[in-house]
Amino acid sequence: MTKNKCIAVFGGTGKVGREFVKMALDSGYSLRVLVRKRSSFELNNDNRVEVIEGDATNAEDVTAVVTGSDVVVSVLGNPSRNVQIMSNATENIMKAAAEQSSPPRCLMISSVGVGGSSWLIKISLTLIGGRAGFKDYENAEARVRSETRVPFIVVRPYALTDKPANGQYKVLPGHTAHFAKPIPRTDVARFFLDCVEDVSRDGSCVNIGGV
Ligand SMILES: NC(=O)c1ccc[n+]([C@@H]2O[C@H](COP(=O)([O-])OP(=O)(O)OC[C@H]3O[C@@H](n4cnc5c(N)ncnc54)[C@H](OP(=O)(O)O)[C@@H]3O)[C@@H](O)[C@H]2O)c1
Repeated sequence: MTKNKCIAVFGGTGKVGREFVKMALDSGYSLRVLVRKRSSFELNNDNRVEVIEGDATNAEDVTAVVTGSDVVVSVLGNPSRNVQIMSNATENIMKAAAEQSSPPRCLMISSVGVGGSSWLIKISLTLIGGRAGFKDYENAEARVRSETRVPFIVVRPYALTDKPANGQYKVLPGHTAHFAKPIPRTDVARFFLDCVEDVSRDGSCVNIGGV
């Protein structure tokens, strides 16, 4: 059944993003997806998806995707250690959302370890991705949390896996989450999809793990 909501997606060619795109289409949403290269997006010819070529660090490209959407889902990643992709893209997304007369809700990926959610995971992430890489996620999250006009949810998954979906996820209680079960990327995508309709977590940072 078609749903009367347009979701703007950032990171739709990524591992979590591909799963989210499939699930959202199966659920009847129409999508507008920013991709860096059309050829890396499987569903170029699907008429339920408007594909916009661009870069999330470019403010004009981001505004074109966000304008007129009901919900923004950002499952972007920063594989490089020094380029501040997450914080630049997040600034662009939140600014474009805030400029809308009726701002879309923004569901933004982060990670357990960011925002004081686990010093233990913070140390591992800093060792793996470097200080600048971790700082990029910290800055991106801080930008979202400081937002007053745009409804948001910061989604912080524990370690991701490519294992098959459990069809479930665990919302980890409290602010800190040193230990949890790794979570399949498909179940992270499911959490994002559930948050498209469920506004009960708006304004919060949610740590999620596997079951
Ligand atoms: N690994 C873990 O255990 C773990 C745990 C918690 C959270 N996370 C976070 O979860 C997020 C999603 O993970 P994932 O595995 O799905 O990541 P991924 O497969 O690397 O996907 C990243 C996505 O971001 C896009 N992207 C990167 N820079 C961009 C730019 N400048 N403009 C537009 N798009 C851009 C990529 O597009 P292209 O296809 O063009 O490259 C891709 O679609 C990441 O932020 C990751 O750090 C990971």
